[in-house]
Amino acid sequence: MTIGLIGCGKMGSALTLGAIKKGVFEPNQVLAYDPVPESIAALGDGISAAKSLAEVIQESDVLLLCVKPYQVSEVLAKIPALVESPDKLLVISIAAGVKIETMEESCNHQARIVRTMPNTPALIGEGAAAFALGKKATDADADFTEKLLGSIGIVYGVKESLLDTVTGLSGSGPAYVYTFIEALADGALLEGLPRDQALALATQTVLGAARMVADSGEHPSVLRDRVTSPGGTTIAGLAALEEGAFRSTAINAIKAATKKARELGR
Ligand SMILES: NC(=O)c1ccc[n+]([C@@H]2O[C@H](COP(=O)([O-])OP(=O)(O)OC[C@H]3O[C@@H](n4cnc5c(N)ncnc54)[C@H](OP(=O)(O)O)[C@@H]3O)[C@@H](O)[C@H]2O)c1
Repeated sequence: MTIGLIGCGKMGSALTLGAIKKGVFEPNQVLAYDPVPESIAALGDGISAAKSLAEVIQESDVLLLCVKPYQVSEVLAKIPALVESPDKLLVISIAAGVKIETMEESCNHQARIVRTMPNTPALIGEGAAAFALGKKATDADADFTEKLLGSIGIVYGVKESLLDTVTGLSGSGPAYVYTFIEALADGALLEGLPRDQALALATQTVLGAARMVADSGEHPSVLRDRVTSPGGTTIAGLAALEEGAFRSTAINAIKAATKKARELGR
């Protein structure tokens, strides 16, 4: 199987190198193309550089489409003239907001399409992603996509309409968490803790708590109740969060970002 990587930027490189590391495919199965040759070379030994976009499309069984959203249609429009059998090619797109229907039309339905929504922590192998299948995509395509995205984090198959919610949650979510970490550190700074210590302790607290949720399998409310003693410090802090409408603010953030993702996709 030949894997064609189109666009060797941040996400394309992370996805390809993550999949190689986890044994989803071998470096010598990858044929990569990017207008900047240094970006291909930076992927490392064993990966072949294609001379043109046409070469990647013609030679590949799977295309990892990792260009910016506005470049997607232009790439897909080349497929009909280059691919002999309409069932040969699987295209896995990571472009935010570009709908399956748009991609299917761009390639004149001459490829099986999978649309995915990864997030930036994928760059360090801690991604949270989802994907939706196009009309012609098969169960085997879903399995391959799960293995691919599973190599750089967790992944779920969803209905395409829910990819907007995934965008609002895990796509935009890292920015909410960065803001939360910064705010926690600011609070400690206000109380006199040195800036670097405040930031390090806030970061590790978020990391550790997230790890507790992920590894224990317990609901967050159960873990929270365990550390919240009657009349103690934690309930005093939680009451202050409630006063600031912390939960409904977080819920509204997901609603607002999902709405925006829907609008951008129209
Ligand atoms: N970063 C994220 O958090 C994130 C999350 C979810 C989804 N995504 C999606 O991931 C995609 C890539 O994002 P990125 O952050 O990796 O961007 P990036 O670093 O700019 O990478 C895109 C690469 O594709 C190259 N390229 C442009 N046109 C091409 C063509 N016709 N053929 C082959 N390569 C081409 C670009 O070259 P030039 O620089 O010369 O144009 C660039 O090297 C986007 O569609 C984005 O929506 C990103």
